[in-house]
Amino acid sequence: MARKILVTSALPYANGSIHLGHLVEYIQTDIWVRFQKMRGNECHYVCADDTHGTPIMLRAEKEGITPEQLIARVWQEHFDDFSAFHIAFDNYGSTNSGETKELAQGIYRKLRAEKLIETRSIEQYYDPVKQMFLPDRFIKGECPKCHAKDQYGDNCEVCGAAYAPTELIEPYSAVSGAKPELRNSDHYFFKLSDPRCQAFLRQWTKSDTLQTEASNKMQEWLGAAGENKLTDWDISRDAPYFGFEIPDAPGKYFYVWLDAPVGYMGSFRQLCAKQGIDFDAFWKQGSDAELYHFIGKDILYFHALFWPAMLEHAGYRTPTKLFAHGFLTVNGEKMSKSRGTFITARSYVEHVKNTEYLRYYYAAKLNGTMEDLDLNLDDFVAKVNSDLIGKYINIASRTAGFISKKFGGSITKFNFTDTKSDHVRASAGLELWGKFVDAESQIADSYESRDFGKAIREIMRLADLANEYVNEQAPWVLAKQEGQDERLQEVCTVSLNLFRILTLYLKPILPKLAEQVESFLNIEPLIWSDAEDFLDGKINDYSHLMTRLDPKLIEAMVAANKESLQAAAPVQSEQRHAAHQQNQAKKEMTEAEKGFEPYISIDDFMKVDLRVAKIVNAEHVEGAEKLLKLTLDIGEEKPRTVFAGIKSAYDPELLKGRLTVMVANLAPRKMKFGMSEGMVLAASGEAPGLYILSPDSGAQPGMRIK
Ligand code: MSP
Ligand code: ZN
Repeated sequence: MARKILVTSALPYANGSIHLGHLVEYIQTDIWVRFQKMRGNECHYVCADDTHGTPIMLRAEKEGITPEQLIARVWQEHFDDFSAFHIAFDNYGSTNSGETKELAQGIYRKLRAEKLIETRSIEQYYDPVKQMFLPDRFIKGECPKCHAKDQYGDNCEVCGAAYAPTELIEPYSAVSGAKPELRNSDHYFFKLSDPRCQAFLRQWTKSDTLQTEASNKMQEWLGAAGENKLTDWDISRDAPYFGFEIPDAPGKYFYVWLDAPVGYMGSFRQLCAKQGIDFDAFWKQGSDAELYHFIGKDILYFHALFWPAMLEHAGYRTPTKLFAHGFLTVNGEKMSKSRGTFITARSYVEHVKNTEYLRYYYAAKLNGTMEDLDLNLDDFVAKVNSDLIGKYINIASRTAGFISKKFGGSITKFNFTDTKSDHVRASAGLELWGKFVDAESQIADSYESRDFGKAIREIMRLADLANEYVNEQAPWVLAKQEGQDERLQEVCTVSLNLFRILTLYLKPILPKLAEQVESFLNIEPLIWSDAEDFLDGKINDYSHLMTRLDPKLIEAMVAANKESLQAAAPVQSEQRHAAHQQNQAKKEMTEAEKGFEPYISIDDFMKVDLRVAKIVNAEHVEGAEKLLKLTLDIGEEKPRTVFAGIKSAYDPELLKGRLTVMVANLAPRKMKFGMSEGMVLAASGEAPGLYILSPDSGAQPGMRIK
């Protein structure tokens, strides 16, 4: 009987572009969904942009547009990127939708009726410079658990711990760099510490809903039986905030993570309206439909604790399983802008074009666990070329021509029937064909358990056998011999049938290529149960299916991602030039606009080694009128000491923990108060005031600025 399955991928934030890291997840999910659909299951795949929260609000503000305008633009970009990678959502929505709002408010009301919502006045960090309460993600500091530096205020990317921002050691505002102040405000909490939540989550975890590694994490978060380690979850944020207002609580908004997973439901509800699907059949408690969330390991906490607890107590069904995956590294390291390996989906498409190469490579590396996976760029080229071109495509390209030239496009069945059980496995070719058919259930199991790597290993083992067969039969030799036409036609028929089965097995991974093959073989779209059919009849002329991946394209892509940073220099000078002309036209130049330096080359600029520096200490210098003594961490073994003339503008206490910019290769200079090992940059104009610089959040000490 056909299963009813609802599948989701995590909703990407609407404040950034899709990159190759994201694609691990969307490609993984898409392959699994395509497999389920080929199996004849009723499978729906929904996703949406995750649009709420402060980062989006601040970014729109920076760009001078409304948050709604920003998220509409990003939605289109995301949607286009996903389409280019053949990720076929049945619905791609937005959390900023009427459906999500209604469902989120409904869930909240039910939780409130269950007495699982509580208000409490809390002390929260407030940015005195920016004049707003700071969301967790805009406070950074040291992780209270593992002491990793510069972690966000909600959870640690190094050890995975979740905590309150007030637990961070040496916090600082990522918006202004200021040291945040604690202020009071009423907040709404979901009572995760309630015994009902705890009892439910313990039972839920035991019911085979999680991978082993995830389940271990969960035990850690829950603690031993009898222990209650769960704390209540703060679900409200104060205005100004871009999100949904909490019912009966003016000026209070749902924290983005409250409505984000509800976006799964909201997007599905839109699909139901379009296609007449029964929403309740998938979401009501006791539903017999399966529900799977594909997520990255970084967001397990939200999906394994809050989300099921919310659903359970609001009268909905809970997920059947969570499928968490690891993180992408490129050439063995974290994706990096300076190395050119922070590659966006868009730049891949621009340079490499064929997105199925990447789908294939990721599939080969995925095994259904939470382990990280590496995109090794040399291996990528080698694997795609040797597997796809050298093994798979090769089978058709070496045999199809004879069928068109010699047999008018006909392939024939000879003297055997077309079912697996009773066909006569007379010749070597037919015996081989039988092996291909028999591999079906093992390959299906590998897909089902998301061990795509295993499926590919089996498929490539078969492709090797097919190539051996072609080599042994040597159709090019038969073609030159008298009276061998029948054998030639059989060999090519068998080869193309092997090729057809491989195409079927690869179709979840290579949907576009499979479509081309279907039209070449003149067949209906392949579904899983077609594996044991034997193809005969007329096929079309073979036309080129896939070209080799040229390593130059990869080099160019990496170079372009590096260049995009350096490109900032000419752009700036261009802008400066334009500004200059404009000002001249106005004939009203201020002092600051005058006196620009003459142009320099990029090489001249690169001589200045600018680095992101963390101010680990700042103090007054006895006897110095203008100087502060700064201790700066730029990722070296020993921090540097720099004397900076900024005493008039900064209280040293407020500088501690901030990130700023320093010139790292200025020759050390002996000063009255000691050796100064560099220079901190600050802006100043006509009016009094001195302003040191801050990098955007995410920058790490030691990063080069160029
Ligand atoms: N908006 C939240 C998810 C809300 S779901 C109700 C979010 N967005 S995200 O854009 O940061 O990430 C989307 C998904 O991509 C997450 O599952 C995340 O783990 C995954 N990945 C983001 N970067 C990744 C890598 N470098 N490698 C693998 N997956 C990564 O989290
Ligand atoms: Zn940590």
